[in-house]
Amino acid sequence: MDIETLNIRPATFDDSEFVAKSVMAALGQDEVYATPLPKRTKAMIKRITSICQREDVLYSWKNTLIAEIEGKPVASLTAYNGTNYKEMRERTFALFDGPLDFDIDLMQDETHEGEYYLDSATVLPEYRNQGIGRKLLLAGIETGKKLSIPHVTLLVSPNNHKAKKLYRSLGFREAGEIYAFGENYQRMKLDTADPMRIDILTVLPEMLEGFLNCSILARAQKKGLVEIHVHNLRDWTLDKHKRVDDYPYGGCAGMVMQCEPIDRCIESLQREREYDEVIFTTPDGEKFDQPMANMFSMKKNIIILCGHFKGVDYRIREHLITKEVSIGDYVLTGGELAAAVMTDAIVRIIPGVIGDEQSALSDSFQDNLLAPPVYTRPADYKGWKVPDVLLSGHEKNIRNWELEQAIERTKRLRPDLLSD
Ligand code: ADE
Repeated sequence: MDIETLNIRPATFDDSEFVAKSVMAALGQDEVYATPLPKRTKAMIKRITSICQREDVLYSWKNTLIAEIEGKPVASLTAYNGTNYKEMRERTFALFDGPLDFDIDLMQDETHEGEYYLDSATVLPEYRNQGIGRKLLLAGIETGKKLSIPHVTLLVSPNNHKAKKLYRSLGFREAGEIYAFGENYQRMKLDTADPMRIDILTVLPEMLEGFLNCSILARAQKKGLVEIHVHNLRDWTLDKHKRVDDYPYGGCAGMVMQCEPIDRCIESLQREREYDEVIFTTPDGEKFDQPMANMFSMKKNIIILCGHFKGVDYRIREHLITKEVSIGDYVLTGGELAAAVMTDAIVRIIPGVIGDEQSALSDSFQDNLLAPPVYTRPADYKGWKVPDVLLSGHEKNIRNWELEQAIERTKRLRPDLLSD
């Protein structure tokens, strides 16, 4: 079966048995997938299926998404709006006639109003570790967003580091602990509010468009994690020849970007929403670095004005710009490349943009250290060998080696980073 053909769809009544098994497996009963089924398990599946067939319970087929490959269900996600959680839970557990193996009176609420709660996600054992769970969770997050519910939440066992890493990479963050089903759980939460927005003002939009529609930046926009809008300043001039520049007062060489198109464009954007920063790219600005990228990536809305020609009328810098940024001590023909560099560095660290978020956090500069060397197969290429420690499988030695390498490379190549 081809994982590429994975399709995610809402469950139907006929999926109720699959949903029942998934819910049971999520509660640790993987024997639901055994063949032949133990008699007791078979009876239990039948009972839980009759609950999942209802529409007024937590584990209803109506609350479930199914992932299927070539028409065969391989995974499911049961999720619901937390608003009516208490009464739904009461009804659901009342239907489990027979003793529960935890004290329901001690159980804290898994969710509440204002949350779209991802209750249980289960992938058939033979389809695990292929990214299906991740796709299903993304579909669940999407549903929460479409319903305009402010948060998507879930629970995870505090020691399940693999699952936590996956959830963090999707943008979830730890949000306290609760006691449920006889155990402590970590709550994780994701805000569904509008994504970060970057508006780039330029006289050369075509320089940016290709770049913004490639690779990680394209994916981040598609996933709804960031909105990037490019504005052509020529659309904001009142001049009939679409001029955006003029000769400088004082008679020196070159052209200067005029106030009017920039002011009109920024004013129109600021009428729509509040901006945290209005950045101007210029070689005489503050030097862009990783801490500045981290700081911008936590903002909600930013404007980047690309400098061009000889520069911009200084009144724009005095009255509208909140931060002037240079990407290095050299002069480019325009600020578009600087805006592209900054946008890339900012967007790649927005939670959920990079598949394995660890890889963004372990970049060079994130901890003032250069990254250690990396290698891939084959272990021996023309006699060029991968260091033995990386092949040892000894996690602690590998982490120590990476740290030693990072320190050694930083001392040798960028000692200035260590003196900060
Ligand atoms: N515009 C021209 N050169 C630049 C630089 N080095 N950084 C930012 N903007 C620029």
